[in-house]
Amino acid sequence: MFRSAPFVSLALASVVFAQTYSATYTPQDAPNKSEQGQSGTNQCGTGSDQNSMCQNVYVSSLDDFCIFAPPSPGPGSVIGNTERIEVAWCVQSGHGTRLIPDGAITGAHFVQTPDYVQVTGVGDLTKINIPQGDEGGELDPHGADGNGNPIGGLVFSSAFGGMAQMHEWTNFVAYNEFCIRACKDGPKAPALCQHIYDVMGCDWNMPGDYSSGSFDSCKGDSGEPMGVYGTSTFYQGEPSTPAAHPAPSKSQCNPANTIGNGQSISTSAILTTSPASSAASGSSSVSTSSPSSVTASSTTSSGQSSTTSAAASSATSSGSSGQSMTTTRTSAPPAPTGSSGSSAGSSPSATGGAQNGAASLFSRGLEVSVAAAAVIIGAAVIA
Ligand SMILES: *[C@@H]1O[C@H](CO)[C@@H](O)[C@H](O)[C@H]1NC(C)=O
Repeated sequence: MFRSAPFVSLALASVVFAQTYSATYTPQDAPNKSEQGQSGTNQCGTGSDQNSMCQNVYVSSLDDFCIFAPPSPGPGSVIGNTERIEVAWCVQSGHGTRLIPDGAITGAHFVQTPDYVQVTGVGDLTKINIPQGDEGGELDPHGADGNGNPIGGLVFSSAFGGMAQMHEWTNFVAYNEFCIRACKDGPKAPALCQHIYDVMGCDWNMPGDYSSGSFDSCKGDSGEPMGVYGTSTFYQGEPSTPAAHPAPSKSQCNPANTIGNGQSISTSAILTTSPASSAASGSSSVSTSSPSSVTASSTTSSGQSSTTSAAASSATSSGSSGQSMTTTRTSAPPAPTGSSGSSAGSSPSATGGAQNGAASLFSRGLEVSVAAAAVIIGAAVIA
């Protein structure tokens, strides 16, 4: 009789876990698409490619982070239209994503707290396809249907140990400003990466350093969850909006001169559908991989050149935290189809809004009660 007890608790544990997150991936074992209706992919390979449809974002350090932004340029690419199909744009090569061209980001401030990692910054994000003047919107793993904005977008970080998926995250992007926070899995993650304040912008959701002309990496306190003031919680749409929380205090800041990867700002790199860049398929030659000139690396980033990095050698670590990238690729990253423009029209809502938040709060409540019921039943069985 008592021999079945461990069995029961194991089952309970898995019930609770399963109710929380439907799946956990690493960049190496992610499926081609993690959600139905996904426009891009989670199997991104290595290297980089300015036409990549990769939807894996990394938030690991000042010189190894990404944000989501539109796959195609043009006035129709405002975040409100493209939130379901955004792709990953990264500072560092090696993840199989697009690269944020050097100089596009003019200030970036990384902070690691016990509960999350965050980057706040400014720049000319028209260089990553955000239309001039677009105040942007909020992206998160929930979305109106729970599949995320963008659908199937995944966020990873190596900041808390080995490379791990961060199931709770929130990212605001506008033509001139961005912020991204990825929360370490745990009980505080949903609140500290709350996604329901989608019209409130970066400064309110992620108070911090948005100064231009400087780059730094700091430790910090986690601060208060957005929207929560002691025992009262503000909801978007209520008549009076409380002030943002003060920026949590920071320490151990390390300044950097800049961030970069050798990808020059060149609209041709983004506008043309160049022959699928060889970067992602193993070429080690910088000069053949991109129509744009690749500047000699004068940046301080990681010393990793933009195209040779991981793709050239699958055997050794590629600079991403020593994690080896030995996954065997059975196919090259997908060729871009350029079809994203047409699907944009089907997404009228700017950011999902309160409906989005309400829906997922409801389902979260349900999950909690299901889990609680399971615990009670389990307790009865054990007794
Ligand atoms: C993976 O997804 C991409 C992007 O939609 C697609 O082009 C490609 O054909 C898919 N690959 C497989 C093996 O299904």
